[in-house]
Amino acid sequence: MCIRITGTGRSLPENFMTNDDLAEIVDTSDEWIKSRVGIERRYIVKNETTTSMAADAALKAIENAGVSPLDIDLIIVASVTNDKVTPSTACQVQDIIGAENAMAFDLNSACSGFVVALNTAMAYFKAGIYKKALLIGAETLSKIVDWSDRGTCVLFGDGAGAAIAEADESVMTGLVQGTDGIRGKALDMDGMPINNPFVKNEISGSGLFMDGQAVFKFAVKIVPKCVNKLCEDNNIDKSDIKYYVLHQANSRIIQTVAKRLGEPEEKFPVNVHKYGNTSGASVPILLDELNRDGKLVKGDKIILCGFGGGLSWGAALIEW
Ligand code: COA
Repeated sequence: MCIRITGTGRSLPENFMTNDDLAEIVDTSDEWIKSRVGIERRYIVKNETTTSMAADAALKAIENAGVSPLDIDLIIVASVTNDKVTPSTACQVQDIIGAENAMAFDLNSACSGFVVALNTAMAYFKAGIYKKALLIGAETLSKIVDWSDRGTCVLFGDGAGAAIAEADESVMTGLVQGTDGIRGKALDMDGMPINNPFVKNEISGSGLFMDGQAVFKFAVKIVPKCVNKLCEDNNIDKSDIKYYVLHQANSRIIQTVAKRLGEPEEKFPVNVHKYGNTSGASVPILLDELNRDGKLVKGDKIILCGFGGGLSWGAALIEW
């Protein structure tokens, strides 16, 4: 019981970059990128920001759900690429969309961020504290990738997705989430160094570091574990699940997960070829595509699952 998604939206930058465009910057090729990760292009901001895309996706989700911004009592933005330290992206979105009655905050759980935001809303709903949430995953990863590292810069893209989630006692819902900070260095990036009257540090220019093989192994192990646990906890069979909406990190991870679960690949919608890995934005962007393409019908059971930096993971069973 307790959470139903009633509207979705997405926002992508105008500008996109193909694999051939990337091959002009680093030593790579369309063939390598497509065969290793299934990505054909990704959107990269020129004029948009994390906040502008978050607000745009939010307004579309609000319209899709047919709710008033004034009815929203909770806004959570999942992001690792906020434009400001303060106000939070969620507070800026609150201002732009006029959601005066909401409590708004950001959450950093990297690529599992949107699902962890959904699970957070679920907990508030169960406690009877809030009833209508605006959940957003928004990223401008192009700000933080190392554009000289061909091992990472080819993987990521910018974008935002949003959903309106409402408390609903009549639907089945479940969650699984966790972190493994001990192996967190597999996806690592420094924040601002200390600079004060006592300590002087150079601001380093290096971007995101990733141990690709460690992350791959982690992902293909944790996602099936989350799915099996959700099914077990909620007493349902995998055949009851219509779609597995996984974080779109790369197509080989998704194919391996499908194989390990013994589930047909058709139940794993994929859009990573169009957007690359948009971290916390990938699950709500995919959900919005499914919703607007009419692929979700009332009563459908779907599992959302995010995984990535932290290391972290979050999965939710929801009923449409
Ligand atoms: N173009 C061409 N060659 C590349 C390249 C690129 N963009 N990136 C790396 N290579 C090269 C490497 O330099 C290496 O060359 P070498 O053998 O001469 O040293 C070779 O390809 C193999 O590199 P390796 O890192 O071992 O490749 P891999 O088989 O592990 O594949 C990933 C790399 C990133 C595709 C793979 O590890 C992966 O999918 N990891 C998960 C990443 C992910 O999804 N992260 C986000 C999770 S939230």
